[in-house]
Amino acid sequence: MNRLFLKLGGIILALLLVVGTAYVVVTSYISEDYIAEVNQQLYGGIAEHTVSEVKPLVNGQVDTSQIQEIMHSMMVINPSVEVYLLEPNGDIITYVAPYKRVQLERVDLRPVKAFIAADPADRPLIKGDDPRHPEKSNIFSAAEIRNSTGKLEGYAYIILSGEEQASVTGPLASSYMLKLGKNLFFLSLLVAFLMSLLAIRYLTRNLRRIETAVQRFQEGDYEARIDTDNRGEFAVVSNTFNAMASRINANINEMKSLDQLRRELIANISHDLRTPLAIIQGFVETLIMKNDTMPPPDRERHLTTIFNSSERLSSLISQLFEYSKLEAKQIEPQKEAFSVGELVQDIAQKFSVLAKDKNIAIEVERPADLPRIFADLGLVERVLQNLMDNALKFTPVGGKVTISMAADRHNVKISVVDTGPGIPEADLPFLFDRYRKGARTSSGKNVGAGLGLAIVKKILELHDQSIEIKSRVKEGTSFIFELPQQSAKTA
Ligand SMILES: Nc1ncnc2c1ncn2[C@@H]1O[C@H](COP(=O)(O)OP(=O)(O)OP(=O)(O)O)[C@@H](O)[C@H]1O
Ligand SMILES: [Mg+2]
Repeated sequence: MNRLFLKLGGIILALLLVVGTAYVVVTSYISEDYIAEVNQQLYGGIAEHTVSEVKPLVNGQVDTSQIQEIMHSMMVINPSVEVYLLEPNGDIITYVAPYKRVQLERVDLRPVKAFIAADPADRPLIKGDDPRHPEKSNIFSAAEIRNSTGKLEGYAYIILSGEEQASVTGPLASSYMLKLGKNLFFLSLLVAFLMSLLAIRYLTRNLRRIETAVQRFQEGDYEARIDTDNRGEFAVVSNTFNAMASRINANINEMKSLDQLRRELIANISHDLRTPLAIIQGFVETLIMKNDTMPPPDRERHLTTIFNSSERLSSLISQLFEYSKLEAKQIEPQKEAFSVGELVQDIAQKFSVLAKDKNIAIEVERPADLPRIFADLGLVERVLQNLMDNALKFTPVGGKVTISMAADRHNVKISVVDTGPGIPEADLPFLFDRYRKGARTSSGKNVGAGLGLAIVKKILELHDQSIEIKSRVKEGTSFIFELPQQSAKTA
């Protein structure tokens, strides 16, 4: 930030220097011309005046006494003038000037003629040859000299800013202008520079705020935001950064919670896997050790336990596999139209053996004109299996499980109702992710992995549906969900 500040300051300083120098140069140039023009305007009529007053040439011959006269009157008005008499072709006939150091023999007549031709009231600045300083031009006054017949006999050519004056006004004016210019220049430079430093500071204030927030964020403070009033120069940048920071923060939190979930899942599952495995190991060990001495009924009991445990292990693993596939969204529902009534009938048939063992009645309520539904057959079967599995598992002997179906405008509503022990209200919120909470109820020794309902929920989510539970302790539990009718999806 400081580097940006310095860079901007440097650029502005350089700009000011360039502009200031140009200003000084132009000013002094213009002021020189200005002084010259003023002089020429003031004294431009001198030659004309002189010629009308005196007759410097008599029949082309220099009248020295007249010249002295001219010289005298000139000196009174302006001691620094230099008077020249020119032939009609520009040759210098004679001159009156201090320090006779004239170097030119002829004067360029073009500016002289231009001067004479111009309207005195509106005459531009015209410079002509300065016989003493051939290298530079100077302001002058000029007039034609004509004899009584009107014939051009020559010119009076008067250098206005003579050597003396030039030697005084030149340095004086330029030093004055320069001093003024310089002082002005440095003063305005300083002021401008200070002002621009303030301006930069003001403008970069928001930038500094952004930098601070970005730095804090980079150092790990994910709550760091740029406080912006939506009006500053960098409002868009600030808002974008804030939105980005919030997004990153949300993603990090989501990743953290997913990570946490996975950790809990693994911990709970490995615990659940260990139990049947330990049982199997223990019983197999006993069998190996007492192979010869164990009476056949005991041996059979052991083998049955081993078989049950291994079945449990295998169902646990397959459920886990199924659930993780669902969670990773690896399962894409293959939707088709089918009769859910027939599916329910089939499932009721399959569970009837188990139900008979526990003396539980299974009832199917199915209206005759039930429309077909549009869903993944295999996944819906899993939902019904899991719900039936729970219902039969938790309902005590002599109870009843009812599967009923009903159609409304777009959907078919399916409910699985049992007369079991019910679920305490406090447990309801965690029912679908018990594996996560690790909150195992001790309702019987045949406690499952707790994945059944989680799988049900995931499958229904894949169908954009949810599941509802109604439960009363000691009265029973109902699981209710809907699936879309075929017409709604295909028509
Ligand atoms: N019909 C029901 N009646 C009473 N409690 C139920 C019923 N269905 C589910 N529950 C309760 O909800 C819990 C979660 O059910 P879920 O099907 O997810 O797991 P689980 O049956 O214990 O194990 P899994 O299905 O993985 O073998 C059950 O352990 C039980 O406490
Ligand atoms: Mg279950």
